[in-house]
Amino acid sequence: MATNRTFTMIKPDAVQENHIGGILSMIEEAGFRIVEMKKVLLTPERAGQFYEVHKERPFYQDLVKYMSSGPIVAAILEKDNAVADFRTLIGATNPAQAAEGTIRKKYAKSIEANAVHGSDSNENAQLEGEFYFA
Ligand code: TYD
Repeated sequence: MATNRTFTMIKPDAVQENHIGGILSMIEEAGFRIVEMKKVLLTPERAGQFYEVHKERPFYQDLVKYMSSGPIVAAILEKDNAVADFRTLIGATNPAQAAEGTIRKKYAKSIEANAVHGSDSNENAQLEGEFYFA
């Protein structure tokens, strides 16, 4: 995957509350092209694998439970400077700290149910994309 791609998930709370369209609109209006996309229900095992990097963190078990609690939308996005620009578009992990105009400011409910995922490096964008679209 080239460096102008990133990977995102619309998380279970946002899917459940009918925010797929609103979030995809913000993504497209920010200039990202949707390269691949699908709706998936993760098993706890798959959710655990995706977040394996956090397995020693205190929030890991709850995060795995939450991410397998309902369907998510996984997508690969393309744009110049995709990884950094998408992190700017989604805003801070904790919605209380997310800037105005960001997806998390608008749609996140809590630090856990924070509406969207965005890869934090080109390397992870590639690995995370392959996790869903290999
Ligand atoms: P992290 O990679 O730190 O954040 P980001 O998604 O912004 O890259 O954390 C991954 C996910 O773990 C985060 O989106 C929500 C969850 N999480 C918690 O539930 N509690 C926490 O205290 C943190 C830091 C993250």
